[in-house]
Amino acid sequence: MEKLAIFGGRKTKTKPFGSGKRIGEDEIKEILEALDSDILFYVFGTKVKQMEKLMISLYGIKYCSGCSSGTAAVHIALGSLQLAPGTEVITSSVTDMGSLTGILYQLLIPRFADIDPETYNMDPGSVESLINGKTGAILVVHHAGLPAELDSLMKIAAKHNLPLIEDCAQAHYTKYKGKLCGTFGDVSAFSLNHFKLITTGSGGIVMTGRKDLEENIRLFIDKCYFRDGRERNPYFLAPNYQMSELQGAVAIGQLKKIESIVERRNKLGMRLVKGLAEIKGIIPQKIPEYSTHSFFLLVVRIDPDVIRVPVKEFCRALEAEGIPSKPNMITGGMPVYLYDIFQNRSAFPKSMIPFVSEDLGSNLEYQRGLCPNAENAFEHTFNLNITEFYTEEDIDDMIRAITKVSGYYERGKR
Ligand SMILES: Cc1ncc(COP(=O)(O)O)c(C=O)c1O
Repeated sequence: MEKLAIFGGRKTKTKPFGSGKRIGEDEIKEILEALDSDILFYVFGTKVKQMEKLMISLYGIKYCSGCSSGTAAVHIALGSLQLAPGTEVITSSVTDMGSLTGILYQLLIPRFADIDPETYNMDPGSVESLINGKTGAILVVHHAGLPAELDSLMKIAAKHNLPLIEDCAQAHYTKYKGKLCGTFGDVSAFSLNHFKLITTGSGGIVMTGRKDLEENIRLFIDKCYFRDGRERNPYFLAPNYQMSELQGAVAIGQLKKIESIVERRNKLGMRLVKGLAEIKGIIPQKIPEYSTHSFFLLVVRIDPDVIRVPVKEFCRALEAEGIPSKPNMITGGMPVYLYDIFQNRSAFPKSMIPFVSEDLGSNLEYQRGLCPNAENAFEHTFNLNITEFYTEEDIDDMIRAITKVSGYYERGKR
């Protein structure tokens, strides 16, 4: 058996991964134009508006607004629905804090759905089991770049007359049954942070097909100020989540590339999935045939009945082979409800609001065991990252390294 690199054996990957620049001539041209215009404020400038138009034509949706981050985008989406404090919002137990910040700032109460053990997306059965008289919205997360089970989730939302928000922070230009994620729900949110498929450093986008939400979205981005000549007279609480012209300019260049970026990632990702599926004890995330995975991440399970090594050690061995991986999906190694903020119910100082509040009629705890599939997934899965700059050879090296490491730790081999 070949000695692992971590124990002094030969490293699998010696040639560097394919790399490239994400910011190119388009972005530079756009940003120079923005600077040259001497206007960096979205209301007077053209770049944010142009980016919004581009998004509308790419997605075939009616309304789009740029904003300052993905966290802001989710907050704006929730704010646009004008839900009463104390209302419950059902979301995923495996997501970024950015999905949850807006819920808490609106004094809404997150309820965490368990995930499907094979796709790692929200389990529609778990979502439906959480619905009660206080439920006000379903916030769907397309985790890792794989569309959530939208048909079932849309059916549940319609049956209970609940608005559906899509958090597409990890799923730009990603298709479910041939239709783009972000065009299913009442309102959708995207992130343009550094780690996402396209980036403006920090930035976000909100989309809706609903005229009534469009006005709220615009107001929620901008202190509840009318920017259309109407007298200033804010009538609800709204932050300043404006996108600047500089972000807008870069976003134009990035959006022009999104289709080709996703196509390339999908091609490489599917090659990786196919190769990994051949390895004993290695189970790549299930990708339904009707879904297009954009491979923000690939989640991979190690079958503990076959491979006898803790996932952290497996990742360390892979790292030594020259393949980066992370044993924690995106959340830092635990379902989000196990974060201190939920365990201590400490969103706000000296208060347990909104989790415990007489005024809101709430008294909620998030105990370990709440989402068994999510908790189990963290014990046995790791993430692989790919970029559009990787080559087929890079993917094959990843497969070879995982074959080597898993073979080494296979039960009964040594
Ligand atoms: C699912 C999800 N929602 C929201 C966010 C928040 O986006 P941002 O970092 O741009 O605020 C992220 C970012 O990681 C995310 O992955």
